[in-house]
Amino acid sequence: MATINDNYLKLKAGYLFPEIARRVNAFAEANPDAKIIRLGIGDVTEPLPEACRTAMIKAVEEMGDRNTFKGYGPEQGYAWLREKIAANDFQARGCEVDASEIFISDGSKCDTGNILDIFGDNNIIAVTDPVYPVYVDTNVMAGHTGEASEKGEFAGLIYLPITAENNFTASLPTEKADLIYLCFPNNPTGAVATKEHLKAWVDYAKANNAIIFYDAAYEAFITESNIPHSIYEIEGARDCAIEFRSFSKTAGFTGTRCAFTVVPKTLTAKAADGSDVELWKLWNRRQSTKFNGVSYIVQKGAEAVYSEAGKAQVKALVSFYLENARIIREQLTSAGIAVYGGVNAPYVWLKTPNNLSSWDFFDKLLQNCNVVGTPGSGFGAAGEGYFRISAFNSRENVEEAMKRITEKFKV
Ligand code: MLT
Repeated sequence: MATINDNYLKLKAGYLFPEIARRVNAFAEANPDAKIIRLGIGDVTEPLPEACRTAMIKAVEEMGDRNTFKGYGPEQGYAWLREKIAANDFQARGCEVDASEIFISDGSKCDTGNILDIFGDNNIIAVTDPVYPVYVDTNVMAGHTGEASEKGEFAGLIYLPITAENNFTASLPTEKADLIYLCFPNNPTGAVATKEHLKAWVDYAKANNAIIFYDAAYEAFITESNIPHSIYEIEGARDCAIEFRSFSKTAGFTGTRCAFTVVPKTLTAKAADGSDVELWKLWNRRQSTKFNGVSYIVQKGAEAVYSEAGKAQVKALVSFYLENARIIREQLTSAGIAVYGGVNAPYVWLKTPNNLSSWDFFDKLLQNCNVVGTPGSGFGAAGEGYFRISAFNSRENVEEAMKRITEKFKV
């Protein structure tokens, strides 16, 4: 008789964003005239940069000609894209990352989940709370946790609370962790890490033979000059960190799909016999077996991000969303709501007014303002009483949403 992976049954609720969509759809069906503005899931709304579109159109033409047609590409991604990434995103910032250490993929969400394939089942895992739910759910699916508590915390995981009191940066665990998930600029709080904070993590990881999974999907939104863009700006990180990056939020690729992961060749972890094994080799083996690479057309679109025109267009796109974030921050503050983030990130994290629970605020916002956000408690127990507003939308929608919220919630 066929059996299932019982670990899936530990996942109590649906994945956060489909769950929100379900509630919003029910509301929309019951209120067909409501003009709902969606500032929940961080999904981009503005068109792809012209440089990317032009490159992709040219690539489609090449696919239509026998002489330039491409079949399977290299599983790791085309060298011309990996070389541009290495030069622009890392070497230009003084980071020692080689093109051969970069793996092109179809998304950071997939990579942060799939990376667990190459790690053992007995690692002790640390996550911040609140946290991007994918890190927790993929560990639950892989059987790395026990059951969830009443509060929704899974047995066996180390939760590191991040709140206004600690400036949304976690303290180092007092116990030993083997795998640590860090995300900066942070989803959902919008917080960033200083060099000193990241150095403390790198030192901890090296002292404990731990690996840091560093999710830098929102790196392009950093506006302050002294904030690190990559963990490899920190000395020693090549010996303890894997970094995840994405074109989704940087260049509007959420529907186009392109991302990359850096696995330094200097990075090792222990085999059962006590020997050190290169993680690069395992990830390369995993990707060549289970993944056939990102399409040539999409990789050509991603390459155009690094052209002069592409760089300028991507900068304008990021600035557009950051201006939305500024408007959100300013308007909510004027309504007496405490706000965080939104300066180096496309997310504004707010304290719910009148001590409302996160989901109560979600319902009130939906019913009274027809605006959708994301309940902080959906990202973890310590997110209760907080709420996330995404800056990914048109200017018109952001302004209209803020008008509705400030009218209803002015304190
Ligand atoms: C979010 O809203 O947190 C993001 O859209 C999730 C993602 O990038 O997968």
